[in-house]
Amino acid sequence: LAVGGAAAGLSAGLAGCGTERPGDVQPKARDFPKDFVWGTATAAFQTEGSPQADGRGPSVWDLFQDLPGKIVDGSDAKTATDSYRRWADDVNLVAGAGLGGYRFSISWSRLLPTGAGAVAQAGIDHYARLVDGLLEKGVTPYATLFHWDLPQALQDHGGWAARDTAQAFADYAALVGERLGDRLKRIIVLNEPAVHTVFGHVTGEHAPGLKDVALLGPVTHHMNLGQGLAIQALRAAKGDLSIGTTLALQPCRPAGGGLAFWNRLASDGLDALWNRAWLDPLLKGEYPDAMGEFLGDRVRAGDLSAIRQKVDFMGVNYYAPAYMRLAPLSPGRIAPAAPPRGVELDAFGRQIDPSGLSEVLARLRTEYGNPPVFITENGCSDPFGDGPGIQADTFRIAFLRRHLQAVKAAMEAGSPVKGFFAWCLIDNWEWALGYRSKFGLVTHDRTTGVRTPKASYAWYAALARSGVLPT
Ligand code: NOJ
Repeated sequence: LAVGGAAAGLSAGLAGCGTERPGDVQPKARDFPKDFVWGTATAAFQTEGSPQADGRGPSVWDLFQDLPGKIVDGSDAKTATDSYRRWADDVNLVAGAGLGGYRFSISWSRLLPTGAGAVAQAGIDHYARLVDGLLEKGVTPYATLFHWDLPQALQDHGGWAARDTAQAFADYAALVGERLGDRLKRIIVLNEPAVHTVFGHVTGEHAPGLKDVALLGPVTHHMNLGQGLAIQALRAAKGDLSIGTTLALQPCRPAGGGLAFWNRLASDGLDALWNRAWLDPLLKGEYPDAMGEFLGDRVRAGDLSAIRQKVDFMGVNYYAPAYMRLAPLSPGRIAPAAPPRGVELDAFGRQIDPSGLSEVLARLRTEYGNPPVFITENGCSDPFGDGPGIQADTFRIAFLRRHLQAVKAAMEAGSPVKGFFAWCLIDNWEWALGYRSKFGLVTHDRTTGVRTPKASYAWYAALARSGVLPT
């Protein structure tokens, strides 16, 4: 398929003029510009393993994964893809595909085992080695500061529901800027804060496993505030960083049927707390009205200007649209609904709908001043599971192709999309779904540790080389 990709790049028909002879095959025009960043992504807790190495402290996920019944396959991430020890293998895979960017996350509790105070130098050294290893191979590192693994010691003091956590986060960001910012130039402050807020604090499906809708407002606000303070701290630590943040942007749609009118209220409600509660404060300095009842008196004078910061880019994670219904007895009076019958789903149960990606990019264009964008995640859970189809990986290739067509169209419509990071480099620990969900371009044998590229890896490598999207 790598060959297929390259062949498609050469298949653009006959030359028409100049010195070319009839019959010469011309390379097809690029679909993506030369400086477009092709990358792939991972996150610390999903891949690193080695939870006790070099003085690392526990995070909320270390405790949560051990609670009975929380992880569908009963697994944990204590080894995961062993990437703390085998990081060089991962770097080789990224570089081997000719990719220009690698997005990983830094584990806060490797740098600050109790979240604040004493620094673990060995943890910093690990990320310094990873960053240097990437740079040596010509790959630009993009580091996420918070991918859901809050140090447990901070959770014991209230976690993101406590205002002090915002300052602790800014101090951690400053540490990253000071110790790594001489060569780590691209920082993604938060990853999908809406997911951490809602699944971690309202539905309890993710760590820290809380189920209290009253936490929605405080957690949202303190993460926003922490992000604003962290951006300021990073800029103070190193003036030349490129800083953005990553949101799980989802078009919110009403479940259909006779109640569609009412369900529209539910989908607008989700839009407010899932999308706009993060976009509006950062980019406009305000919260959507619908957040008022959740925020209460949490927002103090000066908070909104601390949160509204100039970002160099917005990170967009896109997987699927969300369908919602009105549910008077559920938290927030809204509940998720199944996607319409007959739509195509991945093994995660997410609808495959590239038009949702077009929609979120159009929204950034028209409602939020059209900031530069990186697609920091996009990918699918492979229905082949562990079966023989996993290496041929046709499902993922088709998925990526269709979503990249949407990216291309958005760029033609004026979206400044600067790069695309396929989720994920390697099959790993998919949170509450354990190891069952396969998002990787590469498989991981959990017994031997062996990493084997799937066909999508070669397909993606060819695309990164040519900039031509195979049809
Ligand atoms: C988004 C999250 O950032 C990532 O950790 C997760 O594995 C993917 N979604 C796939 O569900």
